[in-house]
Amino acid sequence: MPKIAFLGSGNMAGAIVEGLLAKNAATSAELICLGGDDDTAAKLQARTGIGVARSLDELLKDAGTLVVAFKPQHLASADPRLATLAAGKLVVSILAGKRIASLARVFSSARNIVRTMPNTPGQIGAGITGWCSHEPLSAEDRATVGKLLDALGAAVEVPEVDLDAVTGVSGSGPAYVFEFAAALRDAGVAAGLTRPTAEKLAMETLLGAARLLARKKIDPEILRDQVTSPNGTTYAGLQKMKARDFRGLIRETVLAATARSKELSQDD
Ligand SMILES: NC(=O)c1ccc[n+]([C@@H]2O[C@H](COP(=O)([O-])OP(=O)(O)OC[C@H]3O[C@@H](n4cnc5c(N)ncnc54)[C@H](OP(=O)(O)O)[C@@H]3O)[C@@H](O)[C@H]2O)c1
Repeated sequence: MPKIAFLGSGNMAGAIVEGLLAKNAATSAELICLGGDDDTAAKLQARTGIGVARSLDELLKDAGTLVVAFKPQHLASADPRLATLAAGKLVVSILAGKRIASLARVFSSARNIVRTMPNTPGQIGAGITGWCSHEPLSAEDRATVGKLLDALGAAVEVPEVDLDAVTGVSGSGPAYVFEFAAALRDAGVAAGLTRPTAEKLAMETLLGAARLLARKKIDPEILRDQVTSPNGTTYAGLQKMKARDFRGLIRETVLAATARSKELSQDD
């Protein structure tokens, strides 16, 4: 069975490895990472029992798939031997903002290249990843990509041109939600609650509302309307959001992040 090799063994590689093992989608013997200057590879091995290679040659010798999971800024200085060592292999990159064209310069003889944009909840298997491939995927490679991304949560295939918007919505999206959670907490304090009480109310409201939305599988507007009686308390609050064009603000937020993603991915 060809192995899945990881170049980079930090947070995201760890999340994929742990997700694959938890879902029985791979065994630890099928997974291998590269030992580095720091001890991330050793720590990942201690947690999960996967192999640690001492060299790139050893890492890629028996690998069918290479997951590229180091920091984006390290792509430019990647070992030039990867061109030949990764020849004929499926390369799956999780590097934010690195286009397929840039990846193809480093992994010039790969069997195929997949570019993905995961988000931070992927670290607990609750993420959403947008992805695209260089060439159409074979059924076997599609299954491998599905298995890898399933380890992080949900996934959606998009044309590469849409990955900047994916970054603007779901890549940066968790930060918008965290900011909303903090704002709701601070507003609770402004309304007279103690900070611990306001924090608990804000966090549980956010979690509960998200779970209800996921469970009901209906438009958020319908759920919103179900808790909004005419001229009631929620109505009074929502009127303020409307008056300050909350939706316009979120639209501008996502468009700004999308535009920045476009700029950054054009830099290389
Ligand atoms: N964190 C997220 O939620 C998230 C979301 C979307 C996309 N991403 C992408 O995921 C990638 C990894 O993020 P992370 O949070 O997992 O980073 P991380 O925890 O900092 O891990 C980075 C890993 O890369 C290794 N590394 C450092 N320099 C390297 C080099 N020159 N060549 C090869 N490997 C090298 C590090 O090894 P040593 O420790 O031995 O130095 C470490 O194992 C990034 O490209 C990021 O854009 C992350």
